[in-house]
Amino acid sequence: PGIRPLIAGNWKMNGNARSAHELAEALRAAGPSLDASLLVCPPFLHVSLVASALLGTSVAVGGQDCHAKVSGAHTGDISAPMLRDAGATHVILGHSERRADHGETSAQVMEKAEAALAAGLTPVICVGETEAQRVAGEHEAVVGAQLEQSIPLGFITSGGIVAYEPVWAIGTGRTPTEDDIAAMHDFMRRELVNSWGPTASVTRLLYGGSVKPSNATAILALSNVDGALVGGASLVAADFLAIARAV
Ligand code: G3H
Repeated sequence: PGIRPLIAGNWKMNGNARSAHELAEALRAAGPSLDASLLVCPPFLHVSLVASALLGTSVAVGGQDCHAKVSGAHTGDISAPMLRDAGATHVILGHSERRADHGETSAQVMEKAEAALAAGLTPVICVGETEAQRVAGEHEAVVGAQLEQSIPLGFITSGGIVAYEPVWAIGTGRTPTEDDIAAMHDFMRRELVNSWGPTASVTRLLYGGSVKPSNATAILALSNVDGALVGGASLVAADFLAIARAV
């Protein structure tokens, strides 16, 4: 209670200008009737056009990463002020695919989150264990360390968002049990409140990993689950909106 749920779509490396525009238009029409807030994170190339299409609506737009520096000789990178300039208000940081594909560490995620906050963007910091870590019973230790090492000063008070995404549940159609999701979200809440004080009791904790219309109602009803970070199902407007209507 008290936290308005957020349904965030991570489009990853999918689509083109036309499909991005169509998806934005579909959300534009449906946004106002929802009890959840919506966020979409297109590929960098489409941030501007999606932000323009959603201008004047309550649907927020975010990037999927940003550089820790404001500008400079960093070929191929995008800075937080550039994202802000393009119309973004949020940025996903430390997604497990960035950690795996680009070797991103929690320390780098913290630097990026600091840059995002300085640019006026709300960071969505992703954490989550691998399957081997879950089997070994290390999931809380792993996620606890990621939280400790990647969340900078000012993140909680600025409304920063945390997404729990078990790596083995991403794009696989498999999810943890409802009890396991609730246990992890309760654990994250305790850790954040212990580290940052009572302000962290309203930090949004999203669950991500194979969220779809058929499991969204059950997942979104769980203790300390304040929304979802949706990959595959966010590429189909009807599915993404069905998840948003499940809150
Ligand atoms: O950021 C989103 C997640 O990685 C979840 O992806 O819904 O395709 O499993 P998925």
